[in-house]
Amino acid sequence: MTSTSLFLGRLAALPQGSFAQLANLLDAIPPGAEPISLAVGDPRGTVPGFIREAIAAHGHRFGEYPPVNATPEWRQAAAGWLKRRFGAELDPEVQVLPLNGTREGLFLAPFILTPEEKAGGRPVILLPNPFYQCYAAAIYAAGAEPVYVPSTAANGFLPDFASLPVSILMRCVAAYICSPSNPEGAVASEAYWQTLFALADAYDFTVFADECYADIYRETPPLGALSVRRAPYERLLSFHSLSKRSGLPGLRSGIVAGGVELMQRFRAFRNYAGPQVPLPLIAASTAAWNDEVHVVANRALYAERFAAAERILGHLPGFFMPAGGFFLWLKVANGEATTVKLWREAGVKVLPGAMMGHAMIPGESRTNPGFSYIRVALVNDLSTINSALDRMAHILTKAMSEEAP
Ligand SMILES: Cc1ncc(COP(=O)(O)O)c(C=O)c1O
Repeated sequence: MTSTSLFLGRLAALPQGSFAQLANLLDAIPPGAEPISLAVGDPRGTVPGFIREAIAAHGHRFGEYPPVNATPEWRQAAAGWLKRRFGAELDPEVQVLPLNGTREGLFLAPFILTPEEKAGGRPVILLPNPFYQCYAAAIYAAGAEPVYVPSTAANGFLPDFASLPVSILMRCVAAYICSPSNPEGAVASEAYWQTLFALADAYDFTVFADECYADIYRETPPLGALSVRRAPYERLLSFHSLSKRSGLPGLRSGIVAGGVELMQRFRAFRNYAGPQVPLPLIAASTAAWNDEVHVVANRALYAERFAAAERILGHLPGFFMPAGGFFLWLKVANGEATTVKLWREAGVKVLPGAMMGHAMIPGESRTNPGFSYIRVALVNDLSTINSALDRMAHILTKAMSEEAP
């Protein structure tokens, strides 16, 4: 990613956002057919009736300032879902808080954990590479040093934090981990979580577990950080969202859950800085966390889309079925060149993997772990996805035969 001069001081290092980079790449090129975008990962489902009804029934509560910790009903629903889904034993009064979507919580989290220095140096926060852009923005804004840890096919698309030098781990205050991961759809195993928590205990850092795709999976429900860590959940903040689980990104509603002391600090800080979630939206969120029927239906839609992807693109050598999430992470020769080709020849917009990644050696684009990938979001309706994938298959198959020795 390239840096931008929009910001000053510590924010000057902020990389340009993925979609701004994508616009720079494609805006001057006319699409080769009626455009279809598979670039943005916005779930586009219908809003369940019971969600609309809950908002309408509580509309009068827009007249009140909402409490930072929502309502007793929401706290019960959130802790109840975390118990059903992950077996988590959380005290609803102090260990769960609502968020305006997980992004807001993921952004605030580093601020409560970044001291002036740790182990005699600048505090470090680890993040996977490629990564959800908010992590880097949060790390820079909080004044920590980001350490990008590659997620490659060789390590199952999950960062190998344990391989880092001790000198880095000693300065580490937190690590972001995304499971199922965006963009690769990799799911952390029990052993992976155990290793990460052992490292967090050994070097005294906190795990920020971004699990907003936890309910979008192919076969087995992914284990969560809260399934493995167990009470009292020290050194853990786990983030969940209705954006993906319920297909409600416009509701802006998520959960952060974790150890008591961390959650006290998070709540106190959020009281200054975080916008509370409006009470009618809290009522809708309560209903959504309490219901699984719409989630099962939502997952079935993704299953159809992935089945279509496997049927249409499964013959490509770079194709694999991700365990979770709603993206294909497709290996090609050069992700940016392929993105331009798909747009110019077929009108299909995807995201080059490099635009979610960071070059491990500055200026050397091939050291960006996303270099050889494109990210394809399967969030449109099935017929749109079928048309886009058919067009892509034609071009990618041709490119494959041209590249073959
Ligand atoms: C990995 C990841 N984390 C967090 C988010 C933010 O989700 P929310 O809508 O809950 O803020 C997204 C959204 O695309 C995401 O992909």
